[in-house]
Amino acid sequence: MDLIQLLYDVSDEVCVCTKCRLAETRTYAVPGEGDPQAQIMFVGEGPGEQEDLSGRPFVGKSGQLLTRELERIGITRDLVFITNIVKCRPPKNRVPLVDEIEACNDWLMAQIALINPKFIVPVGGPSLQTLVSKDLRIMRSRSKVFRKEGILFIPILHPSAALRSPDTMKSFLDDLKNLRAYLDREIEESEITDITPRPVYTSPSPKVTETAEVKEEGGTLSLF
Ligand code: URA
Ligand code: SF4
Repeated sequence: MDLIQLLYDVSDEVCVCTKCRLAETRTYAVPGEGDPQAQIMFVGEGPGEQEDLSGRPFVGKSGQLLTRELERIGITRDLVFITNIVKCRPPKNRVPLVDEIEACNDWLMAQIALINPKFIVPVGGPSLQTLVSKDLRIMRSRSKVFRKEGILFIPILHPSAALRSPDTMKSFLDDLKNLRAYLDREIEESEITDITPRPVYTSPSPKVTETAEVKEEGGTLSLF
């Protein structure tokens, strides 16, 4: 079975998924869209009102801002794949809850595994924390490069934050400028922060105290 078909199968399953409570209040699930062979994936937080009504990601006010500013740096939506950490709209656009993010994670991991992008751009804090590490903060991590399981992550501010203040708008536009620059050159090893997945604790052993040192790293990305 080819990858493109498998990606469509994931979308079909997302559209009828009832794995968490967000299924009860959604109009349409929003699986994501774009090039199945994209080198870059953008991953937002979750559908808003317009996305819920249309079944498409990033089409409301903040989506239009993101789309317009991406075009300005030469990235049209057909060249990338755009999705969210949860595929159904949280009521009143509240932040997705941990159990909802976990329930939806299988879909996101399947999409990442099939598309196999070189870069993932977490859009906003919840996406950064879900994909890279829950210990990272978006304000400190934006425009930096992280590597996890062979994928480079370049987080940016969320366009909805940019719409709330001129300062954040400037930072959001800077993030996109920096993203363009990273894509246009070799990223040096010294610029990359490696994130090691949290070691899985299996049985008591004298080595436990040594491995516990990496415990602040890790997040929920796990393709395997
Ligand atoms: N905000 C998001 O995080 N995702 C969307 O799809 C739309 C708005
Ligand atoms: Fe399923 Fe994700 Fe929608 Fe929850 S948010 S119902 S897990 S597709």
